[in-house]
Amino acid sequence: MECAGIVLAAGAGTRMKSKKPKVLHEILGRPLVMWPVAALEEAGIDDITVVVGPEDTQVSNAVSEVANTAIQQEKLGTGDAVKAAMATDALASFQGSVVLAYGDCPLLTSDTIRRLVDTRESEGAACVVLTFRVEDPFGYGRIIREDTFDGGACEGQVVAIVEQKDANDEEASVTECNSGFYCFDAELLRECLAKITNDNAQGEYYITDAVALLRQVGKKVMALETDDAVECFGVNSRVQLAEATRAMQSRINRKHMEAGVTMLAPELVWIGPDVSIERDVTLLQNVTLLGNTSIGEDSVIGPDTRLTDTQVGRGCTVDETVAFEAVLDEGATAGPRAYLRPGAHLCAGAKAGTHVEIKKSTVGAGSKVPHLSYIGDAQIGEGVNIGAGSITCNYDGKNKHATTIGDGTFIGSDTMMVAPVSIGRDAVVGAGSVITKDVPDEALAVARARERMIDGWAPRHRK
Ligand code: UD1
Ligand code: CA
Repeated sequence: MECAGIVLAAGAGTRMKSKKPKVLHEILGRPLVMWPVAALEEAGIDDITVVVGPEDTQVSNAVSEVANTAIQQEKLGTGDAVKAAMATDALASFQGSVVLAYGDCPLLTSDTIRRLVDTRESEGAACVVLTFRVEDPFGYGRIIREDTFDGGACEGQVVAIVEQKDANDEEASVTECNSGFYCFDAELLRECLAKITNDNAQGEYYITDAVALLRQVGKKVMALETDDAVECFGVNSRVQLAEATRAMQSRINRKHMEAGVTMLAPELVWIGPDVSIERDVTLLQNVTLLGNTSIGEDSVIGPDTRLTDTQVGRGCTVDETVAFEAVLDEGATAGPRAYLRPGAHLCAGAKAGTHVEIKKSTVGAGSKVPHLSYIGDAQIGEGVNIGAGSITCNYDGKNKHATTIGDGTFIGSDTMMVAPVSIGRDAVVGAGSVITKDVPDEALAVARARERMIDGWAPRHRK
């Protein structure tokens, strides 16, 4: 059966106390709203509509690559938000299953989404609601089943969902709660939406009323109870954002450890959802891996390292390093205290050592930049050694210029290479040189003041 997804994200999120829309606050580098969207995709649903407010252009932009957006003109409640989604071209005449999720609940898994859909389709139900039980259900919508109040097993169909503010004492004592995740039959959902009213304590159109409306016309509404209430955790405040981050961190880290990654202190390792790590990698303390980062077999990362959109090959060592959009080939090493910026490429066995910054440059196989250097806009060949404190002067105040260094060349310490400049292969540059002219292959270039000697000067000076 065809299946579509709707994610509600038009809420105000006032409890975040933020300039930024709530659903754009991030968990492990991914905005809140993208978590349910990604879970829907992972469950095989790619027809996804995100409901946003009229001013939420930031949210629409964030989701535009993977989802349609529907605008809810006024925040009249979750029922109204679903109506906005079902009125879009993508869904107006859609037939099949519709999974509804809330944009502030990042921990739902694709497995549970599949179970919701499969349950609805195999049972021929109009709706299946995901429910969970908590000791203190305050604030959640309560699940009222046929047999909730008769002391039975509480396994019957759902007859209503009652919101906290509308609940009487008996209803408020129910501990089975609405997660906010549902699977509906599209056609029956459409019929309900036309009938939902705002006649309740908050004067809102509640999607939860769809349950009682479906029952009135004799349709089947089932509950699927999760045994992992964490999946239903919602983020309304920064404290809850931190709690959700912790839950996601431990879920992701567990998955990598089970796949053969060593972490000595998993609570001090943060890994984004799109990171891939091969087996026998070791992650030391205070390591953050974000975006499309990948780590090859046997590499050791950390401590104190943050890699974003960075590809690390096999057998690399990356110690106290910050890198963005960098590439390290097999056996390369970085740090301690290296800064690899976009376009930094360390070829096989190359080294960016301590207090070294590299930007938009290739360091050839086996070449070394061991200490205190800045290398920008440079092409460095193989087997090159760059002495401590050497710098490519790539910027003249207006434009950036390139430096090239051929294979096997030795650059003495404290060399300034004033770009554009090209240094040949197997050449030597004397320490302390300021190189402004191209250096031919195999030449020695020395560009510094000659040393003078004045005998007996020092004691005279001290007097
Ligand atoms: C909702 C459920 C409640 C459930 C709880 C689970 C309803 C009426 N209640 O309550 O049964 O236990 O979630 O977390 O659905 N939104 C819009 N437009 C609106 C209003 C809300 O897009 O006009 C979005 C919000 O951005 C949010 C989601 O819908 O992502 C849920 O809204 P919220 O106000 O947080 O509902 P709860 O009171 O938490
Ligand atoms: Ca909520």
